Amino acid sequence: MYRTHTCGELRVNQVNETVTLAGWVQTVRKFGAITFVDLRDRYGITQLLFGETLNAALDANPLGREFVLQITGKVQERSSKNANISTGDIEINVTAFTVLNKSAVPPFTIQDDTDGGDDLRMKYRFLDLRRNAVKKNLELRYSVNRSARNYLHENNFMDIETPFLIKSTPEGARDFVVPSRMNPGQFYALPQSPQTFKQLLMVSGYDRYYQIVKCFRDEDLRADRQPEFTQIDCEMAFVEQEDILNMFEGLVKRIFKDVKNIDYLEKVERMSWEDAMWNFGNDKPDIRFGMKLANLKSVFLKGGNIEATGELINGVGFGVFDNAETVLAIAVAGCSEYTRKQTDELTDWVKRPQIGMQGLVYIKCNTDGTYKSSVDKFYTEDKLKAIADSAGAKAGDLVLILAGREERTRKATSELRLEMGKRLGMRKDDEFKLLWVMDFPLFEYAEDDNRWVARHHPFTSPKPDHIEVMINNNPVIENAEKYLEHPYSNIKANAYDMVLNGNEIGGGSIRIFQRALQEKMFAALGMSEEEALHKFGFLLGAFEYGAPPHGGIAFGFDRLCSILGGSESIRDFIAFPKNNSGRDVMIDAPSEIDAKQFDELQIKLNLK
Ligand code: AMO
Repeated sequence: MYRTHTCGELRVNQVNETVTLAGWVQTVRKFGAITFVDLRDRYGITQLLFGETLNAALDANPLGREFVLQITGKVQERSSKNANISTGDIEINVTAFTVLNKSAVPPFTIQDDTDGGDDLRMKYRFLDLRRNAVKKNLELRYSVNRSARNYLHENNFMDIETPFLIKSTPEGARDFVVPSRMNPGQFYALPQSPQTFKQLLMVSGYDRYYQIVKCFRDEDLRADRQPEFTQIDCEMAFVEQEDILNMFEGLVKRIFKDVKNIDYLEKVERMSWEDAMWNFGNDKPDIRFGMKLANLKSVFLKGGNIEATGELINGVGFGVFDNAETVLAIAVAGCSEYTRKQTDELTDWVKRPQIGMQGLVYIKCNTDGTYKSSVDKFYTEDKLKAIADSAGAKAGDLVLILAGREERTRKATSELRLEMGKRLGMRKDDEFKLLWVMDFPLFEYAEDDNRWVARHHPFTSPKPDHIEVMINNNPVIENAEKYLEHPYSNIKANAYDMVLNGNEIGGGSIRIFQRALQEKMFAALGMSEEEALHKFGFLLGAFEYGAPPHGGIAFGFDRLCSILGGSESIRDFIAFPKNNSGRDVMIDAPSEIDAKQFDELQIKLNLK
């Protein structure tokens, strides 16, 4: 037997027991004739005491960091206890030891505060995974996994695996493709999600399906995106949107309870997509704090009313506002005393390429009732007050204003709001706020091709009241300038996203389940009949054999874990993640393949 106990197990009531432990050498400390060794395994650390009798043997075979060691000895109470570790009251007085394996000197210290940089830790991920911090993340991931499975099982969901070698599933990203040796010149695509398969399972009668499943998307990577990531993917038949929202609100609340011991009792707030965009500039608002966007002059879809809202700022000769498509403001509470240096720094912040604005206008609403602004030259104090009032500012607030093209300005103001929220401590890692964002537009306008694309995916159903509009109108956009006047721009989807602290953690929809409507959808997206049949004939065919009404959702499992764990990066919660260039630097993938493999696949490289 390699061990009788783990390194996290022994307590003071086991004093005098003879035990055998096995683990990795964390530290070796020699004090004259005695040596202390910290032995580590997945469960904890136990202090070992090597007395005088073992010293000669230790000198002959010195222990190094990360050696794999097995010891036998007697548990004894420590004279100086360590309250920081679970075994801190005891130590093992070692009577015999065996080095099971030596270790090269690790390239970084296996500790919470390691000296290893990101790249080095990724290259030696198997060592990084020994660190407590990373282990905790994987433990959290596993507890989310268990909690989700328990909840779904209790609610009659069945875990059914779906294939990885499939045909393209459009979720808005590029596919990863796999050549088929047995079918030369043909390729599988790796699933961007199991979307069509879970719908087919509904047709097959498995009315509650789930899978914790890998998805593959060839897209630009960010802290919250990986080329292969995991979804908690779910689908239900005979449901309406409300049934789905309730069921999955329940799932997330259960995860909060099981994983964080948080009773999330209140009903999850709901917000329409339009309100989210209008008030927060963003379809995944962080509602832990207010600081809503004020539209001083906006054209946001058709909701903006430049004449009414632009009156305050237009026509005084300040070209930046006069000529802007959109002017948006936020009122930052209690910051009227910002110094010149601080406002300059904020200006630099919005000018960074990631934000991309030309500048920033501020109004300080001083506590003595006066107003001071970077555009004093153009606006009288009365006018500044009126602008500040319309931004919802009070005495003591700092109004920050951005102006420019609609989309960029909205995005930048939304980022600025999040940044100010963070700086002012309003985005705490241990505070959680869920939100359903709903009523998304069914279509988005793709300027480059002058056509409609699916905002969610092509299987999403329009709201029942909008089905007629979709069926009775021709999708062709005659006048690109006036796409907003096309009836399709008003069609709303039966789709919903779940947002947690400003992150989209899940998204889903009620699906189209009638062949004719699905065909109309493909046509609306610019697909010819042949193309639709070629790509999705199997689904259209299945809809002819008794497809029930159905809908579902998928949660970003890695994202959910990283937020619950208080980290911005999902990589920290994936055992073997890819870096920002999509590389696994540990196994060095992707990599070239042999000429023989190319031969078998009948593929020739044509690198440019
Ligand atoms: P969607 O594309 O919205 O929906 O994906 C669902 C959730 O998956 C997460 N996610 C990602 N996480 C890490 N890296 C990525 N590259 C990545 N892309 C997405 C997000 C997102 O909310 N088939 C539909 C679901 C449905 O309609 O039922 C789908 O995949 O948290």
